[in-house]
Amino acid sequence: MLVVDDDERNLLALSEVLSDIAEVVTADSGEAALRELLKGEFAVILLDVFMPGLDGYETARLIRERDQTRHIPIIFLSAVNKETEHLMRGYAMGAVDYVFKPVEPIVLRSKVAVFVDLFNMTREVRRKAEREQRLLDANLKANSERLSAERELRLAEQRQAAIIASLPICLYLEPLEADPRIPRFVSGNFTPLTGYAFEEVKQDPTLWARSIHPDDRKRVTAAIEARELGRGHSIEYRWRCADGSYKYFLDQSVVLRDADNQPIEYAGTLLDVSHRKQLEAQLVQSGRLDAIGQLTGGIAHDFNNLLAAVLGGIGLIERRVALNDDQQKIVAMTRRAAEQGAELVGRLLAFARRQKLEPARVDIASLASSVADLLNHTLGGLVSLEWQTSADLGYAYADAAQLELALMNLIINARDAMPEGGTISVIGENREISAKDSRHDVEGLAGGNYIVLAVTDTGCGIASDILQQVTEPFFTTKDVGKGTGLGLSMVHGFATQSGGTMHIESEAGKGTRVELWLPRDAQADDAIPTEAETSKRANGVPTAGHRLLLVDDHEEVRATTAILLTDLGHHVTEAAGGSEVLDKLRADPTGFDCVVSDYAMPDIPGTEVVRQARSIRHALPAILITGYADADSISALPSDVRVLTKPFTPEDLNQAIAAAVEAFGQKH
Ligand SMILES: Nc1ncnc2c1ncn2[C@@H]1O[C@H](COP(=O)(O)OP(=O)(O)OP(=O)(O)O)[C@@H](O)[C@H]1O
Ligand SMILES: [Mg+2]
Repeated sequence: MLVVDDDERNLLALSEVLSDIAEVVTADSGEAALRELLKGEFAVILLDVFMPGLDGYETARLIRERDQTRHIPIIFLSAVNKETEHLMRGYAMGAVDYVFKPVEPIVLRSKVAVFVDLFNMTREVRRKAEREQRLLDANLKANSERLSAERELRLAEQRQAAIIASLPICLYLEPLEADPRIPRFVSGNFTPLTGYAFEEVKQDPTLWARSIHPDDRKRVTAAIEARELGRGHSIEYRWRCADGSYKYFLDQSVVLRDADNQPIEYAGTLLDVSHRKQLEAQLVQSGRLDAIGQLTGGIAHDFNNLLAAVLGGIGLIERRVALNDDQQKIVAMTRRAAEQGAELVGRLLAFARRQKLEPARVDIASLASSVADLLNHTLGGLVSLEWQTSADLGYAYADAAQLELALMNLIINARDAMPEGGTISVIGENREISAKDSRHDVEGLAGGNYIVLAVTDTGCGIASDILQQVTEPFFTTKDVGKGTGLGLSMVHGFATQSGGTMHIESEAGKGTRVELWLPRDAQADDAIPTEAETSKRANGVPTAGHRLLLVDDHEEVRATTAILLTDLGHHVTEAAGGSEVLDKLRADPTGFDCVVSDYAMPDIPGTEVVRQARSIRHALPAILITGYADADSISALPSDVRVLTKPFTPEDLNQAIAAAVEAFGQKH
């Protein structure tokens, strides 16, 4: 309480009387009282009315004016002014009581005690209210934290569900001891993945095991049985979906454990890896074909050289030796055998993508008529051939003769697949592969325009397990002597070497469709000669005796070629390699009309021989003879140098020389 009196003794006396009720703060003037009021909280103020300076009334007025102090009860103390008028003024100034001096201690104490109690109670009530408010606030805060945590959790769950739903994967839960295997739970993508509703699987306990591909069943069952308690599994197998098609699944599981580390159930995933498997198979297959191709190509190349020498030798004998009838028959037979060998080698080289191709614009309509003519007798009465080409079909860019051969191979395969007869249709279409279209099912094609020739039959079809193998050389299902197994290998090699591809679709018992993709000739310009026209032009070049410089490191081959050339009326000078050529040319720079050089020589390639020869005599006509059928393997070939592929006929050789010399003559 605040006791205000200008008389020191009064203050002392009052303090004495009241000090055990509450703490007493004294002030000896109105100003001092106001100062004290600023410092603390008071339960009651005892205010002397008469004081110098601010008197009691004035002080009370100021106290009432301030918000912080307005409610503090004021008891006036007065020794004089006992009149009603003063009493009234005191109450008007906000006093709660008016006590006259000398004060009766008991009365004063009890009056003051009332206010102190009131103050304490009010303070207690306020404190309680504050405590309750604090509790309420804490409670509210906890509640809102819980709510936002719940919201976060719900969001996380929704997010998780969305992620699971968008995965190309099916999650499942499976009891530990499940035989037959039936999941307890599967995630939403089970049906899109398998075509079955979860209910169907639950009601048909053997469905899962039954649908595994028969070839995979044993392995998968073993893997599941071997799955020890506590261990998961990881297996790949083919599984027949509701629509009857097989998908390749990667099926993996792990064991879920409870808090005591006891296994509860398996949690697994089912992932469709069909596309990956398909790519893998394609990769393995094309790797195999590449390897076989390299091997075959190497052997075929060596064989080709030998056959060239054999055929050359036979030619010489026929020309030079007078043979009787019997001997002529033997020689002719030998020649036929060698020619058949050469043809076989040619097919091997085609498979190995090493044949010499002369691509040009090919008109499919005229190709159709020439193929149809060739096959008329071969097809037999039961099988008919039907061509369907769209009116706007473009030109293919390919080697016409090889394309003809490829189509014949495909058509004869189709015929063989239909012993009962039927219709083979050849459908020609324009197709485009956009550069971005990397997932096209036609393997490894660059973006661009293509001509697709599809040969379709309704024959026996190809079983899926040998589909990968039919393009391998010597793979055949035909009887001994009926098929060599080189047909599709050749077609595949030819198509790939031409910048296209071959694609087989087949179903056992239903039929086969083989697509031959070839690049489409980009130029719409009609002035470009077709293959037929090009060869026509090369024909009819007059031939005459020329002075030839023949280069070949292989002595026998060189000798046979030399004799052949001499027989054709040429003058031949032989050289065994690059340095000999240079020596001979330096000795007589204008003494030769044409260089005839082998391409593949151990110390120096034919192209280099030509280059060096031309460093002595500019633009000297030259031709290259090669056993390497692959034009790509010849690097740095001058554009005017023609390449002649072994084995060749004497006429081929003669024509090539004549063309080279002719071209030189025109230039000068
Ligand atoms: N249209 C088809 N229908 C069914 N099977 C086919 C068809 N085409 C090819 N095949 C199968 O592919 C195998 C390989 O064919 P490919 O043309 O390479 O050799 P081939 O026809 O057996 O012998 P070749 O063509 O050398 O005379 C055939 O033996 C056959 O089993
Ligand atoms: Mg064939």
